Amino acid sequence: MQTKNKSTVLELIKSKVSLAPMAGLTDYVLRSMVRQYCPDCLLTTEMISSEFLNQNRNQNEILKLNPDHHPIAYQICGHKPYLMQKAAIQLSEYADIIDINMGCPVRKVVGGNDGSALMRNVELAKEIVIAVKEGTTKPVSVKFRLGFSQDEMNYVEFGQAMQQAGAELITLHARTRSQMYSGSADWAKIKDLKNNVDIPVFANGDIKSVEDAKKCFEQSNADGIAIGRGILGDPTLIGRVSEYLKTGKMLPAPTPIQKLQMMKEHLNREIELRGERVGVKFFRKLYPFYISSIPNAVKMRAVLVLENDYKKVCEYIKEIENQVKTYTV
Ligand SMILES: Cc1cc2nc3c(=O)[nH]c(=O)nc-3n(C[C@H](O)[C@H](O)[C@H](O)COP(=O)(O)O)c2cc1C
Repeated sequence: MQTKNKSTVLELIKSKVSLAPMAGLTDYVLRSMVRQYCPDCLLTTEMISSEFLNQNRNQNEILKLNPDHHPIAYQICGHKPYLMQKAAIQLSEYADIIDINMGCPVRKVVGGNDGSALMRNVELAKEIVIAVKEGTTKPVSVKFRLGFSQDEMNYVEFGQAMQQAGAELITLHARTRSQMYSGSADWAKIKDLKNNVDIPVFANGDIKSVEDAKKCFEQSNADGIAIGRGILGDPTLIGRVSEYLKTGKMLPAPTPIQKLQMMKEHLNREIELRGERVGVKFFRKLYPFYISSIPNAVKMRAVLVLENDYKKVCEYIKEIENQVKTYTV
């Protein structure tokens, strides 16, 4: 049974790389851009609350799917098995995989007994997986952390419990909840989990380059990797990792000028999706990633994040481009 599921789920993710979900960031546009550079990685939506599904004003944007986005996982979040099942039923129309969030460390989420709070309630976590599986014929995956705190590192037992409940894939972000995003991801611990379950394990945390991906595979022996923050400012990263895994070729990272071009494309696509006023505002959180390697980035960022006028933003990006060209020619 597990062997059959193992091959089914890995057949879906041919490139062995997935986009890690990031609330407010891995939207339709960023998913499309990652897909542009990697035709076969697994994309993932940001988490969708099972409590607020059908009530949230931004829902259409979160659920929006392009046929090119397959294979794609839709991630759900919550702690009430019947609501999680309802969400799985609804999202199965779009998703190739239903992913369950059991790793989110944010206080509001944990306070509501969702996300990584479920690592302290293994029985409930199992009930959720069972309920979700009853609501979908699609493979079900679970994403979690090493444990709630340094003293509660139950990732092996938790992974085994998820497998027993029927999960077909697990992604481990190798930090505890208490760490939030501090310190570094402990990839060796992923190997521990891998050695103690039969279902595929994806490694996650701190993969910011093709070299990191290589090291992470070596240290974790994982079946695949999930990349989140590394694609911010560089939507080519997953494609470059995938190319390395297939051919051994390490393609160069984009130059500052290429990053500026991707930034403009990303901005324009957000505007297409959200309209000019909202799109420009939404993009404030994304400028810093694209310009971080340019001298004077801090000053440039300060100008960009205060500018609401699309034309002025474009003029300023042109200025930055001209400046970068003076030192790269
Ligand atoms: C802004 C932000 C939002 C995130 N949102 C989610 C989410 O919705 N669901 C989830 O499972 N993880 C979420 N994460 C965690 C990431 O998926 C990932 O586990 C974490 O960032 C570590 O991987 P990385 O170093 O490749 O980014 C989020 C992370 C960040 C920085």
